[in-house]
Amino acid sequence: MPHTMVIFGASGDLTSRKLIPALYRLFRQQRLPAQTRIVGVSRTKFSDEQWRGELAESMRKFIGKEFDEAAWKEFSQWVFYQPGDIKAEEDFRHLAARLEELEGGQPTDRVYYVATMPQLYQLVAAQLGKTGMADDTQAARRIVIEKPFGTDLKSARELNQALFKVFRESQIYRIDHYLGKETVQNIMVLRFGNTIFEPLWNRHYIDHVQITVAEEVLVGRRGDYYDKSGVLRDMFQNHLFQLMMITAMEGPVKFNADLVRDEKVKVLQAVRPFVGADFADCGVRGQYEGYRQEEGVDPESPTETYAALRLHIDNWRWNGVPFYLRSAKAMSCRTTQIVIVFREPPHCLFGTDSRAKHLTNRLVIQIQPAEGIQIHFQSKVPDAGMKLRLSQLDFRFDKSNGPMPDAYQRLLQDVLQGDASLFARSDEVELAWQIIDPIIAAWRSPAAPPLHTYPVGSWGPEAAREWMERQGREWFDVCPVIH
Ligand code: BG6
Repeated sequence: MPHTMVIFGASGDLTSRKLIPALYRLFRQQRLPAQTRIVGVSRTKFSDEQWRGELAESMRKFIGKEFDEAAWKEFSQWVFYQPGDIKAEEDFRHLAARLEELEGGQPTDRVYYVATMPQLYQLVAAQLGKTGMADDTQAARRIVIEKPFGTDLKSARELNQALFKVFRESQIYRIDHYLGKETVQNIMVLRFGNTIFEPLWNRHYIDHVQITVAEEVLVGRRGDYYDKSGVLRDMFQNHLFQLMMITAMEGPVKFNADLVRDEKVKVLQAVRPFVGADFADCGVRGQYEGYRQEEGVDPESPTETYAALRLHIDNWRWNGVPFYLRSAKAMSCRTTQIVIVFREPPHCLFGTDSRAKHLTNRLVIQIQPAEGIQIHFQSKVPDAGMKLRLSQLDFRFDKSNGPMPDAYQRLLQDVLQGDASLFARSDEVELAWQIIDPIIAAWRSPAAPPLHTYPVGSWGPEAAREWMERQGREWFDVCPVIH
């Protein structure tokens, strides 16, 4: 069956930086279903040709050498543009007529990709409903919602309700681009496709888990958005929680969208809520030096650009195993890693070397920049008595497989095929807000823990190190372990 992907917010950054390059690559790899049309919609009055020209220019900029004039020419014949204002119902009627014309009356599966300003998400769905464009009696109708999905539980619920007036859950694809990253998917393979890890993956062998998403960049031109959002909304509620769910979930009975998501949801259901005095010690807040002088940022802003949280997952597998989640901008390097820190051996055979005692086994899953896995284990220093040292075993994905595809490539392909496994379900999103909302509220109240500053290019505030130390642990502050 032919497909049409309609992109609302076509003149936006996401479209030119991520969506079109991903679709172009899929086209070149012959992974787009035959006869897939792409129709951009936004208010600017472009013709098809003008939009194609704009896109060609941005493609040259973003994908460099991968841009091939002949391939682009072929691909761009399937790219169209329809000017329209999301607020105008008649523009949706014009769009409906244009789509009918392009599709030549043939039943065609459609994906509506909503990449507009978040305030317009509900309206897009409502307009699609009113103009009959969500009717799926002849062919599939799917809607993709970009992040952020709400700014708190209340707004996320409202958005879900608004979508449910027009679409069923199975037609709704909520984007979290972290789920499209190959290494994130590989966590499931590592855990459930092998026999050697899963028996150790529990409270008997694991001391704690650290999930770090460190970014080197500052807020840049996004100060206005970021100052209202802060790191808890921008990174924790979505990306870090996704990483935690996949690390902590039970194995699903089958690898299908609902069964996988059922297991992920159970992790969030088991997260122990903070009460009263917990909020003061559940984590560390930080703001990089100079943040308040950034464009669009309140000069007295209380917004965190760094946060570390300790969460407990109250179930049989994880009881007593803290999950430390941290993310920040202005860190010393860009790295996303999940570190599984194992317990110390129950009996220390090898001498008095106190260092050896601390060098417990670790499994480092590096999500980016290079994707791979590293195992840390003790070995003997040759010819030095029974002195031990920590050795590493490395696995790097792209050595065995060439460059990794961009997350959007995988996600767009899945939407076109109707596979929702790598998208967030409504209950997942709402539960995530349910955990984050009280922390944000407490961190904006007089009882909030102090907001520490940290220098740009560091590993965050000193207070975070001390906080870990008080718990007898230390952060794995290591820039990419796999290169
Ligand atoms: C986005 C956040 O969702 O994720 C950004 O809004 C952040 O602030 C980005 O920089 C990080 O994504 P990635 O894929 O570069 O780790």
